[in-house]
Amino acid sequence: MKRIFKGACLMGIAWASLLATAQAGEVDWAALNPAFAKAAYVKDKEACASCHADSIEAYKKTVHGRTFQHGPKGVLQARDCEACHGPRSQHVAAPDASLEFSTEQYSTVCLQCHQDGGRMYWQSSQHKTAEVGCVSCHTLMKKKSDKALLAKDKEPTVCYSCHTTVRGQMQKASHHPVKEGKMLCSDCHNVHGSVGKSMLKGATVNETCFKCHQEKRGPFIWEHPVVRENCANCHDAHGSNNPDLLNAKGSFLCMQCHSYGGHINLPRYNRTSNPYGQGCVNCHITQHGSNHPSGAKFTR
Ligand code: HEC
Ligand code: HEC
Ligand code: HEC
Ligand code: HEC
Ligand code: HEC
Ligand code: HEC
Ligand code: HEC
Ligand code: HEC
Ligand code: HEC
Ligand code: HEC
Repeated sequence: MKRIFKGACLMGIAWASLLATAQAGEVDWAALNPAFAKAAYVKDKEACASCHADSIEAYKKTVHGRTFQHGPKGVLQARDCEACHGPRSQHVAAPDASLEFSTEQYSTVCLQCHQDGGRMYWQSSQHKTAEVGCVSCHTLMKKKSDKALLAKDKEPTVCYSCHTTVRGQMQKASHHPVKEGKMLCSDCHNVHGSVGKSMLKGATVNETCFKCHQEKRGPFIWEHPVVRENCANCHDAHGSNNPDLLNAKGSFLCMQCHSYGGHINLPRYNRTSNPYGQGCVNCHITQHGSNHPSGAKFTR
């Protein structure tokens, strides 16, 4: 028993000395700014308080401020301010703004601790490629949003500062209830990157939709191939002035592919709108797929 305990202690010491030199995932500060090469960690935010009291007061209310102050886990978190701002001994002695990071440099700094989970595909994401960085969407020194340290109090407001077209789409007559606050952009997108295109959460458009519209998943006895292929063949996920987020009106939607659908060109088949509904789907009510034995034409 005693021997095992001693062994564990020795292992602990070996770990501690390892950690003191090279931290797993630690950023190479000197590569970000050569001035860091000669600096040491101050490890005391009281030493910063004489000049940055206001920043520190606001910071204390953020998740980092709270976590790093009360029971930090590991050496990186225990560095507190310097976990993100690098070793600051020289800055305290001769303060100026010369150690400021660019947006891209800050992303490297954040990934010391946040490489995991949601950020798995960050390096190949459209945002990283377009030089958008963590601090383009997140504010660190002040709690501005209920969750996720966002730069604005509401998530869509953050996105609309760059994606004005999407804001327009979300105002259309038929839209997912984002402006009503019942849904977020991040219900469908992982803005940190994903395997799917357009940074969708699912591997495909359809997989993304099935998360909430399960009944459209099938399999059906009678499949409509165009539905299997991509919901976006008929729907605009952000918004449309046609009902049900449809990207064309009434019969015109179906007639992109079915010239009157094998029907003779009679008004009762091709009407684009009438009191009873939307043309083709008046009769072809199971256009997403049918499980009825005689539903081959999606009429039941
Ligand atoms: C989790 C990362 C992180 C930690 C920890 C952190 N900062 Fe910051 N700090 C930033 C980022 C990023 C900015 C750039 C502006 C922004 O996004 O809020 C910044 C900006 C600043 C600024 C510029 C003025 C301002 O308030 O925007 C000061 C000063 C500052 N930090 C001091 C500190 C001090 C002192 C601490 C510790 C008490 C600290 N920071 C802890 C990330 C951090
Ligand atoms: C003696 C005063 C003083 C002390 C102490 C001090 N700073 Fe500063 N700090 C400044 C001044 C001056 C600036 C430049 C402000 C400007 O030009 O906008 C600055 C800028 C900063 C910035 C923004 C620019 C950059 O380099 O990223 C950060 C972050 C920062 N300080 C962090 C810290 C931290 C962390 C500590 C404690 C370890 C600290 N400071 C201690 C005076 C001080
Ligand atoms: C030293 C490690 C460390 C660094 C560096 C760091 N973080 Fe964090 N971050 C944490 C920890 C710990 C939490 C607490 C929640 C958790 O356990 O994930 C957290 C939480 C967050 C959250 C979630 C907030 C919430 O309300 O749920 C966001 C967003 C975040 N960090 C962004 C950033 C960004 C952006 C940077 C770079 C400017 C950064 N972090 C740098 C360790 C770190
Ligand atoms: C385009 C805007 C945007 C960018 C760029 C961005 N984030 Fe986020 N981040 C968000 C939004 C929105 C949320 C909340 C929704 C969610 O969790 O997906 C979030 C949530 C988080 C969270 C908490 C939830 C989780 O996944 O653990 C962390 C941590 C985080 N971001 C870290 C980062 C880091 C690190 C970077 C840079 C490598 C970064 N973010 C870049 C918008 C962004
Ligand atoms: C600082 C500006 C900025 C912010 C803020 C921002 N984005 Fe982006 N986003 C871009 C740029 C630039 C691109 C790449 C060019 C493009 O496709 O528009 C992009 C690309 C995207 C793409 C992929 C587009 C494609 O064609 O594949 C999605 C999805 C996206 N952003 C969603 C979001 C969401 C959701 C938010 C809010 C959480 C957000 N963005 C916040 C600038 C921003
Ligand atoms: C219901 C799911 C859903 C929601 C909610 C959603 N998106 Fe999308 N988004 C999509 C789909 C699906 C695509 C298109 C994928 C494809 O066909 O390439 C897309 C594409 C995009 C693109 C690429 C350019 C374009 O318009 O095709 C951007 C940018 C974007 N979304 C931003 C946002 C923003 C910002 C929000 C929140 C205001 C948001 N999205 C909310 C599903 C969604
Ligand atoms: C996070 C859940 C969620 C995801 C993911 C989702 N939706 Fe929805 N969808 C909803 C909600 C909520 C409504 C509104 C229902 C209501 O108002 O009764 C809705 C409504 C719709 C409507 C009817 C719109 C109307 O005007 O009544 C269509 C069509 C639709 N979604 C298609 C899609 C497509 C296509 C996708 C994939 C790109 C998708 N949805 C992804 C939650 C989701
Ligand atoms: C061939 C075109 C087409 C495709 C592809 C398509 N839809 Fe639809 N969808 C429609 C039409 C037309 C309506 C309106 C039906 C009505 O008015 O009765 C509709 C309505 C909806 C509705 C709202 C009414 C309801 O049935 O719940 C949802 C949700 C929906 N679609 C989801 C999806 C999803 C998810 C996909 C992909 C798996 C998809 N759609 C693919 C044509 C299509
Ligand atoms: C993007 C192209 C496209 C759109 C839009 C489209 N379809 Fe189809 N549809 C197809 C394809 C492809 C088939 C399979 C044809 C086959 O098996 O020969 C099909 C099959 C059908 C069939 C069965 C035909 C048969 O010969 O058994 C019906 C009925 C049908 N579609 C109705 C509709 C209706 C109603 C709409 C509008 C809500 C619609 N389609 C929209 C491409 C489309
Ligand atoms: C008044 C009801 C009604 C309307 C409206 C209607 N259809 Fe049909 N459709 C049917 C019936 C019934 C069949 C044949 C079913 C069968 O043979 O089992 C059919 C068959 C089809 C077929 C399969 C043709 C084949 O050769 O087997 C297609 C494709 C089709 N319709 C498309 C459309 C399109 C596109 C529209 C709108 C322009 C439309 N339908 C409007 C009732 C309708």
